[in-house]
Amino acid sequence: MHPRIALITGAARGIGRAIAERLAADGCRVVLSDMDGSAGLATATAIGSAAEFHPCDVADEAQVRALFHTVQQRHGRIDVLVNNAGITRDAMIWKMSSADFDQVIAVNLKGAWLMCREAAPIMRAQRSGRIINIASRGWLGNAGQSNYGPSKGGIVSLTRVLALELGRSEVLVNAVAPGAIDTPMLQAMEPQASERLREAQPTRSFGAAEDVAQAVSFLADPRTRFITGQTIYVDGGKSIGAGV
Ligand SMILES: NC(=O)c1ccc[n+]([C@@H]2O[C@H](COP(=O)([O-])OP(=O)(O)OC[C@H]3O[C@@H](n4cnc5c(N)ncnc54)[C@H](O)[C@@H]3O)[C@@H](O)[C@H]2O)c1
Repeated sequence: MHPRIALITGAARGIGRAIAERLAADGCRVVLSDMDGSAGLATATAIGSAAEFHPCDVADEAQVRALFHTVQQRHGRIDVLVNNAGITRDAMIWKMSSADFDQVIAVNLKGAWLMCREAAPIMRAQRSGRIINIASRGWLGNAGQSNYGPSKGGIVSLTRVLALELGRSEVLVNAVAPGAIDTPMLQAMEPQASERLREAQPTRSFGAAEDVAQAVSFLADPRTRFITGQTIYVDGGKSIGAGV
């Protein structure tokens, strides 16, 4: 039996790195990709012989095509695609530049779409595959994110559309929507602001990158069947909304 080939974008650090580590521990051959070449290479080296790294900016159509060409040449298949690469450029709409709107949509939404477009024919021909898109609880709405929120809402919709288009080929497409995850971004917040955020969580706690990786591992697991087009929230219950 060949190992499952799992391709993860934005895998150099943070949630993407935790996903790569977890899928490697699950027995996959992990193909890490990131636009940060030196960090990506260091992460792949740290994971060890189950990992390899190929640089790619997901917003660049030619680089995405080249990445899939390389992976196909090396492995001849792709079993799991995790679209994790993402950025924020927050500001209230009256202060947001159209360049910051375009860039967030280009990376978070079009980047995932470009990756899915390359993966789709490969997975259709295999008659198997898993696509897991990293959305965000923020698609439900956060002030200051009129670029990021729609990009992640687009990811939820893309997931549903592709589940319909690929279901008959036995390719399952799902999304994972993290909430407040304890990453350097969160650690950089003012202590009072991060305490308010923690108090607003039903669990009164933040998640870890490994909690997101756990959900991805479940959706990538060959034993997980008959779930497609869904968005799993890993957010300590924040998406429930009222009643905190
Ligand atoms: N951290 C959170 O609390 C949180 C919450 C909800 C959703 N998310 C989502 O999870 C994903 C990962 O977030 P994170 O906190 O680990 O972010 P991070 O900034 O720590 O890591 C993102 C990685 O993506 C890479 N990247 C950025 N732009 C890229 C591009 N154009 N092409 C290829 N790689 C690119 C970066 O180099 C980096 O290695 C993102 O999609 C983010 O929107 C994060």
